[in-house]
Amino acid sequence: MADSYQHLSVLAKELIDFLAPSPGQNFIDCTLGGGGHSQQLLERNGPRGKVLAFELDKRAIDAARARLSEYQDRLIIVNKNYAHLESEAKKHGFSKNIFGIIFDLGLSSDQLDRAQRGFSFKDHGPLDMRFDPVGQTLTASDIILTWPEKELVKIFAEYGGEKKAKILARGIALWRDKQKQNQAIKTSMLVSVILRILKIPESSLKRFRIHPATKVFQALRIAVNNELDNLTQALPQALDILPVGGRLALISFHSLEDRIVKQFFRQMSKDCICPSSAPICVCDYKPRLKLINKKGIRPTAAEVKTNPRSRSAVLRVAEKI
Ligand SMILES: C[S@@+](CC[C@H](N)C(=O)[O-])C[C@H]1O[C@@H](n2cnc3c(N)ncnc32)[C@H](O)[C@@H]1O
Repeated sequence: MADSYQHLSVLAKELIDFLAPSPGQNFIDCTLGGGGHSQQLLERNGPRGKVLAFELDKRAIDAARARLSEYQDRLIIVNKNYAHLESEAKKHGFSKNIFGIIFDLGLSSDQLDRAQRGFSFKDHGPLDMRFDPVGQTLTASDIILTWPEKELVKIFAEYGGEKKAKILARGIALWRDKQKQNQAIKTSMLVSVILRILKIPESSLKRFRIHPATKVFQALRIAVNNELDNLTQALPQALDILPVGGRLALISFHSLEDRIVKQFFRQMSKDCICPSSAPICVCDYKPRLKLINKKGIRPTAAEVKTNPRSRSAVLRVAEKI
């Protein structure tokens, strides 16, 4: 079917090996997507184990419901932001009786490849980028057309790691002043503006390892969906609701989210927070997490070959102690 949901789950085997789901255990999937990871959990935790899944995108929810229809009695889907993890988990009776919480961060291939969602610089669609086009109002086009130049510099640099953030923000500000008011822009329009500002002719794009618009597009996506704040809010909640022995597993796709995960894991697994100058430990600090893999797990060469989009994925797992 031309319109079927498209996404290949990343690091699925590794994730399941670390969680080792068994009959009767409950899990929380914070990023349901097309339901690939949830399916792996549901195949193993029956006949009574449940999965509570969060997802912002209604199209993904419909696809996951269809794919996982045989598990409908054991799968609870909430069309909410995982930043509400703790309250929703309590509301649905998922508190202290769970064995693992997973996050597969970012966006799905289905979202990236559908021009009308506006995530890709390769398409010609509305510059949208909302994970939840029904509940969220701010689009990437709104940011480009209305945010102060200073804010554009900040997000391009911080969320995109774009070295030419200032030049790009200046050029975009000058360009938008000439646009008709309130006319939403298209992905391809922003790409042309970026190339013009950087003085890159279309014909020379082949010599770039990554497309010159990549970093601005990443920055806009993170800003539209408040991605880093959501993750920062959800991590302590996940730790609070996990019982001792429960595992927290996260797959991230860029260094900004991976840094948040790594720092949280490092802070929560410390057994002392005394200043290094202190002769003896007086802090009485207790670690709350044990790292299960010291180094992030990356996809195998075989996985990257079948699913090139998995190449930047990193899996980190920790256990509540
Ligand atoms: C990489 S995909 C997940 C794929 C899924 N694990 C699978 O195997 O099919 C990430 C999904 O998380 C959703 N998402 C991103 N941020 C979210 C948030 N804050 N709350 C709920 N869902 C979110 C996106 O809409 C997207 O569908």
